[in-house]
Formats: sequence, C-alpha cells, structure tokens
Amino acid sequence: MKAAILENYSKKGGDLVIREVPVPEMGRGDVLVNVRTAGVNPLDNMIIRGEVKLITPYKMPLVMGNEFAGIVEKTGADVTGFSAGDRVYGRLPLNRIGAFAEQVAVEASAIAKVPDYLSDEEAAAVPLTALTALQALELLKAKAGDRLFISGGTGSFGAMAIPIAKSKGLHVITNGNAAGQERVSALGADRFIDYKTEDYAQTLKDVDCVIDTLGDSELPKEFSILKQGGQLVSLRGLPNGEFARRVGMPFIKCLLFKMAGIKYDRMAAKNGQHYHFIFVHEDGRGLQQVSDLFAEKHITASVDTIFALDEVNQALKKVAAGGSNGKTVLKINNNPV
Ligand SMILES: NC(=O)c1ccc[n+]([C@@H]2O[C@H](COP(=O)([O-])OP(=O)(O)OC[C@H]3O[C@@H](n4cnc5c(N)ncnc54)[C@H](OP(=O)(O)O)[C@@H]3O)[C@@H](O)[C@H]2O)c1
Repeated sequence: MKAAILENYSKKGGDLVIREVPVPEMGRGDVLVNVRTAGVNPLDNMIIRGEVKLITPYKMPLVMGNEFAGIVEKTGADVTGFSAGDRVYGRLPLNRIGAFAEQVAVEASAIAKVPDYLSDEEAAAVPLTALTALQALELLKAKAGDRLFISGGTGSFGAMAIPIAKSKGLHVITNGNAAGQERVSALGADRFIDYKTEDYAQTLKDVDCVIDTLGDSELPKEFSILKQGGQLVSLRGLPNGEFARRVGMPFIKCLLFKMAGIKYDRMAAKNGQHYHFIFVHEDGRGLQQVSDLFAEKHITASVDTIFALDEVNQALKKVAAGGSNGKTVLKINNNPV
C-alpha cells in the first residue's frame, strides 16, 4: 500500500516521503480499514519536529497520520459491533498512528460509525478535535449554564468544540481570526472577539472555565479572566504532574512533567484555580457519543482544503501556515472496497 512516511525527526519540519509499504498486520481485536480520508493536524507537524517525543516516542520510519475515515475491509476474530463495509472513523492510538496510508489496522475499541449525513471529507475532520473537546469538557467538569472561553476558536479545534459545548448547554465565548467570525457564530458561539483588534482581558472576567489552544503566551491572560476556583484545560501549554499521573506515566516522567508544568500550577494556585493539560487519546465509545450527538443535532464539520495523499507535504505546510478555516484533509482512496 502507499503511505506517507517520516524517516527522521526534523526540528525545522522536514518532508514526508510517499512509499509502498506492507499492509499493517491485524490483531484479533483489530479492524483493517480502507482509508478514504485523513485529517491533517498541527499535531502532525509537532510529531515531525520531535516536539511530542517525551509524551510518545516513535520508532522511525513512521507512517504518519492521527485520524481517518474509511470503510472496514476485514475484522479480527474477537471483533464485535463492526463488519466489512461499515463506514467508520477514529483517532488512532498514540502508539499506533498511520492514517496517511491506503490502509490502517486499528483496535475496534478506538473507532465509531460515521453519521450518514457527513461526507468522507467532513468525517475526517471530526475524531481528533471532537474527542479533544469531549475530554477537555470532562476535565473542566463543565455544566449547563457555565461560561466557557475558548481561545483560537476559529481553527479546526473550535469547529468541533463550539458545537459540542453548545450542545451541553454552555455559554461559549471565543476569539480568533475575524475571517472566521461568521462561521463560528453559525456553529453557536455566543460571543466572538477578533484577536487582532480587541483584548479579551479588558472585557471578560470571572468565566467559569477556559480551553486554551495557544499555550505559554496566552496562559497568564487566560487565568486573569477565570473566576476564583475556575478550571483551565490547555491543549498547548506544558504537561504537568497531574497530566502524567492521569495517563499513568512512570514515576520519573511524573517528576519531569511536574517540574515542566509547575509554572502553570503556581499561576493557577494563586486564585485557587486549576491547570490541566490534555493530550487527546483514542476512545471509540466517546466518539460514538459524538456520532449520536451529530446525528441528533446535524452539527456541521468545517473542512478547509482537500489534498491528495501525494500532496501531503503541501497539506502539512498549509496547516503550519495558519489562516485555518477548519480542517485540512487528505483524500486517499476514492474507490469503494
Ligand atoms: N493537546 C491536544 O490533544 C490537542 C488536540 C487538538 C489540538 N491541539 C492544539 O490546539 C491548537 C489549535 O488546533 P487547531 O487544529 O484548532 O489549529 P488551527 O486550525 O491552526 O487554528 C488555530 C486558530 O487560532 C487562531 N489564532 C492564532 N493566534 C491567535 C491568538 N493570538 N488569539 C486568538 N486566536 C489565534 C488562528 O487564526 P490565524 O488564522 O490568524 O492564525 C486559527 O484560527 C494547536 O496548537 C494544536 O496542536 C492539541
């Protein structure tokens, strides 16, 4: 099969190579999926630059790609609930990525069925960011009526997080690129702030919770608008000790991440607030909840640009350049299995 391969980490963000590689081996609990589309994420560029090595080290050469939509070709002996021909999608397990390929083998517990009304391109825009939103809202213990601020909500994360948060009854305030204002308002954002012309720290205060997508440069300001005792989840700051313990890292890594994230833990502690870091993990059940929610509310998925697998490096550069109007997607197999 054809796949996009990372041969070595490259701090400056090197190119992937397209090569023929063997079809991945399947375990008894796996399904083999004919990949139709794959979402391209800032995370892919971070993996290439070696920025998530401490959280998840990879062996090279590595078939890249974290999320996919496609058709089940075969099921392992122990798989129930899926059969050949099902249209499925998923965020791949951290230690077993490989969505930028014609086929992928994945644990059945990591996937869910795609709502019928979503196209293959729209489906590839859902798993990683929708699961991030779900996992972040869970950590925030957000409840209906809470005021949530999402920074950078005009990107591909906001495109999922805003409608999911709205469906849970939250009041959503977001900022981002003015070009995305109409789109995020249509997704349900109650208030939009243009990050280039308005400083949200001047107008917002005492929000119940924050989802940070921007990291170090914005975190002090984000804490300043959070109420006493409020919760903040960061997708981009540094991991802390609580994160390492939550994901079951060995003692030494817990210590390392405790030191790394102590700055934010201290920032939070000043006002009895809480800092959480998240690194989205696969979760077929959570994704099925997302599918059910989408089917019920007919939530739309925002797709920015579609590239062919051979154009993967262009797609990665597009994501790195910013100016996102939703998800950048690779179209891989056009034919039904
Ligand atoms: N930890 C995890 O598990 C996890 C999961 C998902 C995503 N993430 C991270 O979350 C971040 C966002 O992901 P994404 O897919 O949404 O990225 P994206 O599609 O590139 O969107 C980023 C958005 O933020 C806007 N922005 C840039 N600077 C801003 C600022 N100072 N204030 C407000 N908005 C600003 C951008 O506008 P412009 O067009 O003007 O640049 C763009 O609309 C990435 O860093 C990604 O790695 C982490």
